[in-house]
Amino acid sequence: MSDLVGIASIPGPSAELIFGDWYPAIRADQLHRGTTKTALLLGHPLLLGRRNDGRIFAMRDLCPHRGIPLSAGWFDGETVTCKYHGWQFEPCSGQCKLIPSLTEADTLDASKIFAASYACEERDGHAWVYLPQPGASRIKGELPPIPEVPKFSAHFRTAHLHADLPCNVDHGIIGLMDPAHGPFVHRSWWWRSGSSIHAKEKQFEPLLDLENCGRNAGFRMAAHAPSSNSLPYKLLGAHGPVTTTIDFVMPNRRYETIRSGDKWFATLTTVTPVTPSTCRIDVCAAWNVLAWFPFFTQMLKFFGAIFVRQDQETMVEQAQGLRYGPALMLIDDADKPAKWYFALKQARLRETAEHPMDGPVTLHWRS
Ligand code: FES
Ligand SMILES: [Fe+2]
Repeated sequence: MSDLVGIASIPGPSAELIFGDWYPAIRADQLHRGTTKTALLLGHPLLLGRRNDGRIFAMRDLCPHRGIPLSAGWFDGETVTCKYHGWQFEPCSGQCKLIPSLTEADTLDASKIFAASYACEERDGHAWVYLPQPGASRIKGELPPIPEVPKFSAHFRTAHLHADLPCNVDHGIIGLMDPAHGPFVHRSWWWRSGSSIHAKEKQFEPLLDLENCGRNAGFRMAAHAPSSNSLPYKLLGAHGPVTTTIDFVMPNRRYETIRSGDKWFATLTTVTPVTPSTCRIDVCAAWNVLAWFPFFTQMLKFFGAIFVRQDQETMVEQAQGLRYGPALMLIDDADKPAKWYFALKQARLRETAEHPMDGPVTLHWRS
């Protein structure tokens, strides 16, 4: 026990992080008009808030004058004022509006000074922030589209779940797409039992994202009938044949779409680096199934929370082991998606469009 207490204070191994993309920083409903919140994203301190006109913003939570966190100062719904010398900034652009110490004799043009601010947009209830490469302060050119839960009808319901994970983003992601842990981590009477393990064969195909030079490349588990041994899928099946498509898209996104006729259920799950050695998993769901079913949203959130907690508890335990820096293994075929992820990540970091898959592949495993 004492050993575990000692090791708990040692940060786990860190991962290399991918900048130049959108990440969910905070839930947008936490940003009220005229107020701010702080968050860490990829190890960067952020000051997030909502102006009086409703627009949200994300600034680097450091004053460009002498580095005090801007969150120590004030926000009146229009301007962020630094606590130290009262410099004022427009929060969406970061532009300095006032330096109180300047006199008529000074020639310094305050409006040429900018605090770092980031592109920040609301989607699916997240405040998404585009974090550029460190050093590239002003954003040039058009930004890639903001990730979003796919929706297939005008009316739908939504829900969100999240969990903090004490491991780095790589472990969060490979845990997310790991097909072999289901029968062990997620055993429960309403989902599946440990003895329901059976051989599976799934088709995968590369997603190349050629327009963007492979930036958001990934792979797809081709449309298939979902495993019939799970109760929620049986519920969905009431509308006719069910197909499921699962996409993994760099740097951190898993899209799952389940469709049956005009009924659909879709999720976007992201694993976001909070620091180089910790991350957070967010699951956003949208659906138009079972709209008549009383408390379906509450029920979904209840069971979804159990599911996410099972993953979280396992990763908390895994983090205990990872602090000792063990050598790790990736085996075929169950860990093949993890191997693809690591190869895609290297390609992205090197800014090449190389893809680890030559074409469609069939993987086999038991789960
Ligand atoms: S440190 Fe912010 S105004 Fe001086
Ligand atoms: Fe899981």
